[in-house]
Amino acid sequence: MNGERVKIGIEGLDQMMGGGLIPGSIGAIIGTYGTGKTTFALQFIWEGLKGGENVIYISLEEREERILMYMTQKGWDITPYKGKALTIVKLDPSDFSLAINSIKNELPELVRQTGAKRVVIDPVSLFENIFDKDSERRREMFRFVEGIRDQKCTILMTSETDKDNPFSSRYNLIEYLADTVILLRYVRPSDLTDVHLALEVVKMRMSSHSREIKPYEIQQDQVLVYTEANVF
Ligand SMILES: Nc1ncnc2c1ncn2[C@@H]1O[C@H](COP(=O)(O)OP(=O)(O)OP(=O)(O)O)[C@@H](O)[C@H]1O
Ligand SMILES: [Mg+2]
Repeated sequence: MNGERVKIGIEGLDQMMGGGLIPGSIGAIIGTYGTGKTTFALQFIWEGLKGGENVIYISLEEREERILMYMTQKGWDITPYKGKALTIVKLDPSDFSLAINSIKNELPELVRQTGAKRVVIDPVSLFENIFDKDSERRREMFRFVEGIRDQKCTILMTSETDKDNPFSSRYNLIEYLADTVILLRYVRPSDLTDVHLALEVVKMRMSSHSREIKPYEIQQDQVLVYTEANVF
């Protein structure tokens, strides 16, 4: 263990990261559709709420009601937190300039106002979609990350994978910007076997971490990482 950590709230995964994310760092969960990115993000938010922290969930995909519904379905009683410790912001990425301005300018302000210790951006790939040119995207995303990094909160972004490469984020950018990268993927040992889910901690700046690939299962109210099992 190297000092205090911000737990994601998924025990096996936190263990693989030496206890959790480093406070004030930026984590990225990268995975293809249905691998559990939103589920992981919700666990992270819930872990914060349970610990008495204020949290912000920036959603570029799902409406607020649906996010609240997912949390309720998991059996979590969010009533005491709704509109208080839990702030959900739905951004419409089709309204380009508004989405850019909201994320770039208003997010740091919102973090200050609410004193949030945890922020989720799900999925950040929809924000990245806004930019036409690679160079512009790169510049703007670096600026954006630098703009929020001086805050005293820990950020978890989710990103879809590149359509041709399940090991890379949509634009090959987030993995360079983030301090910690967690990769989620499907593993199908052969054509006729069941598909399994597996995760790995690909990178973690300023920390030792496990490099093993571990199977995990999404259950109704939690995510189980089988740290004793091997995928291959
Ligand atoms: N309550 C639950 N019980 C069991 N499995 C669940 C439950 N909720 C979700 N899942 C599993 O998790 C998967 C979806 O997880 P999630 O929405 O977190 O993925 P995602 O990576 O965010 O997907 P997308 O890229 O489509 O947003 C479902 O396809 C399902 O297999
Ligand atoms: Mg999702």
